[in-house]
Amino acid sequence: MSEDTKIIGWNAPSNIALIKYWGKRDNQLPENGSLSLTLNKSTTSTFLTYKKKQTLENTISIEYYFHGERQLAFESKTERLLNSLKSQMPFLPDYDLIFHSSNTFPHSAGIASSASSMCALALCLVTMEENISANKLKTEDFFRRASIISRLGSGSASRSIYGGFVTWGKIPSLENSSDEYATPYPVDPGSRLNTIRDIILIVSSNEKNVSSSKGHALMNYHPYRDGRKIQANDNMLKIIEAIRKDDYKTLADTAENEALALHALLMTSEPDGLLLKPGTLSIIEEVRKYRRSTGTDLFFTIDAGPNVHLIYFEDQREEVLSFVQNNLVRFCEDGQWIDDCLGKGPERISNESFD
Ligand code: DP6
Repeated sequence: MSEDTKIIGWNAPSNIALIKYWGKRDNQLPENGSLSLTLNKSTTSTFLTYKKKQTLENTISIEYYFHGERQLAFESKTERLLNSLKSQMPFLPDYDLIFHSSNTFPHSAGIASSASSMCALALCLVTMEENISANKLKTEDFFRRASIISRLGSGSASRSIYGGFVTWGKIPSLENSSDEYATPYPVDPGSRLNTIRDIILIVSSNEKNVSSSKGHALMNYHPYRDGRKIQANDNMLKIIEAIRKDDYKTLADTAENEALALHALLMTSEPDGLLLKPGTLSIIEEVRKYRRSTGTDLFFTIDAGPNVHLIYFEDQREEVLSFVQNNLVRFCEDGQWIDDCLGKGPERISNESFD
């Protein structure tokens, strides 16, 4: 690599929302507040190499590689994003930019990869901005700016900037909350909530027939649009109180209500989005039956797809793993599931790990 070529790397996690962002306005601002758990193992690593162009013109020049292969679809998506960022990051057209990214989870696993990939990309861009301007931001300002840039790439990515429990969207009772960026929602260090885990049950890895972006747009004319905002705000208040009081039962009930509400909205959109599969419903039934009969603290949540996130706690891991093996794996495509847990947020990766 030549001396005037620089490289930056970040590893960023995916996240799973308990209160769902569904519907947006203006420039990627959410219609309602959301709250998520940042994951640990499901991550994207992105390296950005940049070199000043010989001749300056006002066009974005990028190449995008995913697992070593040029990815033209991702390249044009990123190019559109960078073009839209030119007013905020006017240096972008002055450089040749090359992105190399890879996911730890299979691309077809049905996990929202936009959160981790847009988060890693935003962190690389803000680091590049810092490097070329030689203006070092305070840590808090750095991550806030990265959250804003991530949000412009994908709403849910704004939350992946932080570890643990994270909110995004203006919530009157939460200081520092904003529609523009996410805010960490730290739980008490002694709380059992710090030991929360997520088993992702892959019911189907097929490409979804409604993308999140299309789904959000369907909310603009949805007959339940106003009702959804009231419901999401109520659920947000319930869940932040439940986290504050370490009240597992309200957390579980509210998260399940949100997952089912998201799919009720999808199913009653025009055109509708029927994304749940028979296996998804079977898993929901099994989880509720098991919880009733054993009293184990576990619950499900689902994003805009058929796969189920089973949320539980470290101290009941053994029994939950047996339950998954004995009762749930049979509903998973090729028996696939991912064992994940609460994560600490993105990490800078050293240049040496780029080969
Ligand atoms: C159901 O963040 O993927 O996962 O902003 O259009 O990229 P865009 O949408 P995206 O939507 C996520 C929707 C959700 C709920 C959530 O993560 O809050």
